[in-house]
Amino acid sequence: MTEPPAARPIGVFDSGIGGLSVLQALRHELPHEDFVYLADSGNAPYGDAKGEAFVQQRTLAIARWLRAQHGIKALVVACNTATAAAVERLRATLPDLPAIGVEPALKPAAACSQTHHVGVLATRGTVGSARFQRLLAAHSAHTRFAVQPCDGLARAIEQSTEEPLPATESAAKIRALCAQYTGALGLFGLKTGEMDTLVLGCTHYVFAKDALRALVGPDVQILDTGAAVARQTRRILTQAGTLADEQADAEGSIRLYTTGRLDALQAAAGRWLDLPAACCSALPADGGRSGP
Ligand code: DGL
Repeated sequence: MTEPPAARPIGVFDSGIGGLSVLQALRHELPHEDFVYLADSGNAPYGDAKGEAFVQQRTLAIARWLRAQHGIKALVVACNTATAAAVERLRATLPDLPAIGVEPALKPAAACSQTHHVGVLATRGTVGSARFQRLLAAHSAHTRFAVQPCDGLARAIEQSTEEPLPATESAAKIRALCAQYTGALGLFGLKTGEMDTLVLGCTHYVFAKDALRALVGPDVQILDTGAAVARQTRRILTQAGTLADEQADAEGSIRLYTTGRLDALQAAAGRWLDLPAACCSALPADGGRSGP
């Protein structure tokens, strides 16, 4: 790559379309940056049963592909499951590529919960990781966290983009899973003993927020990490001196790739980011020559 580092794109990836919730926040915080997003939907979900070794292997392959093909100047791992399984290995393996991870918002939840009782929804992979257990231990001194692994929920959210709107079948499935998992957490509300805060510990779940809001009621705070990750990305680029020119008139570009179904990525990009279908391309999921 001969381009100066500031002019290079930021890579963003997730097991699928969940990381678009982070890309939304990145675009808002850093409108002059170019972004290249990879949805590994051909291998999603990562968090139900794939295991750490598989997620590490995919994370490294995707990071290398984004760097070789697009010359990315930094990588946002917009996936809690991949961050938990692979961000340390990624940093050790590619030390010259700044990597920004995401983690469930337990710290802000502990700081703002008035009832000191917080619900957390995340994938089984995230919940079972050593990284999450350390985070939980670090913030449990004054706050009780109820933690629920949500098998099937990220998959149902992926499926909702494969179905034409109004996506009735997957919407019903998403509602049923959200009801099952919030029900398993316990009672939500502002009274003593109730959970007044719900942490979305998976980037996909942001796209189920309406269903979750209907279940936990209007007073409960629902926290995700998109905005905080976008601010952290700004700090990292500023420190590295690679922030794009913020005086430029034009906004940055966005390219999206998927290892899954192109029509599903196009539907998600249109519904949630208002992006045209032409921004999206499909890649092979199996490490073929043109894909990660
Ligand atoms: N979006 C991902 C996360 O934040 C993972 C969903 C999955 O593939 O299981 O954890």
